[in-house]
Amino acid sequence: MAILFSSKGDDAERWRNALAAEIPDLNFRIWTPDGATIGDPAAIEFGLAWGPKKGAFKDLPNLKAIFSLGAGVDHLIDRDLPPGVPVVRLVDPGLTRGIREYVLYWTIHYHRRFAEYADSSAAGKWQQLPQADTRRRRVGIMGLGILGADAAAHLRALEFDVAGWSRSAKTLDGVESFHGADGLAAFLARTEILVCLLPLTPETAGIINADTLSQLPKGAFVINAARGPHVVDTDLIQALDSGHLKAATLDVFHTEPLPADHPFWPHPKINMTPHAASLTTPETAALAVADNIRRIRAGDAPAPIVDPDTGY
Ligand code: GLV
Repeated sequence: MAILFSSKGDDAERWRNALAAEIPDLNFRIWTPDGATIGDPAAIEFGLAWGPKKGAFKDLPNLKAIFSLGAGVDHLIDRDLPPGVPVVRLVDPGLTRGIREYVLYWTIHYHRRFAEYADSSAAGKWQQLPQADTRRRRVGIMGLGILGADAAAHLRALEFDVAGWSRSAKTLDGVESFHGADGLAAFLARTEILVCLLPLTPETAGIINADTLSQLPKGAFVINAARGPHVVDTDLIQALDSGHLKAATLDVFHTEPLPADHPFWPHPKINMTPHAASLTTPETAALAVADNIRRIRAGDAPAPIVDPDTGY
């Protein structure tokens, strides 16, 4: 029995070791264009992938599941995956914790105006700002999946006024929930700090655009820890330059690494991280993958399986 690894990352050896510790009889094969390291295709029962090469998982007669190396699965779109083989999202508490920290950090950064304090400090100026109150700060989370729901709960624990927006109706303790195209305007109108944790699908691509940004109150902030294509870059820059938005935090971009000549780099109102809001850690993520392999071996379905209709 073998698992075939195809990733743009450079963590194959860590994955090999982490999986071997969990399932010693699982052979770890790394995809190469000539197929040389794949061995007997019939032995491969599982795929493990981040942005795999197109067709990497074709012609594997016993393939039972393809595991995503990330929470998002858009990197598997258009990869010529074999039809009927379930694609499994990564749900790793370590990944969830990373996103939680990122969202809390930047929300508090904007809420408490820490950039302004840093500027004052750098200018040798002693200046207190009015004390901010989380109960009066309206944070809005787009996407109430595992990551969004977790971030919402932890913002609630700090007593932020939290709302969420999702495709279909969701009920979360203490969180005002909006859904669907009809719920978007009311959600945006009440949101001072917008956090995007949506899956990237044809419906959500470009959702942060001139129209939606204009519906946020003046002086709002945007935090995108989902996918670059959720944002229309020129619209975001325009909203920042006009003063409608105060600042934005971006972890993800249309092209990664972000090209050297991209206008985001020098923009004074944009804070950026290099798709590092929450990195997949093989040592913890392998536990979730191994768990699903055991389930499949026991005749149960892995979880969560991507729904081909919604794309997540
Ligand atoms: C990272 O972007 C992920 O999808 O886990």
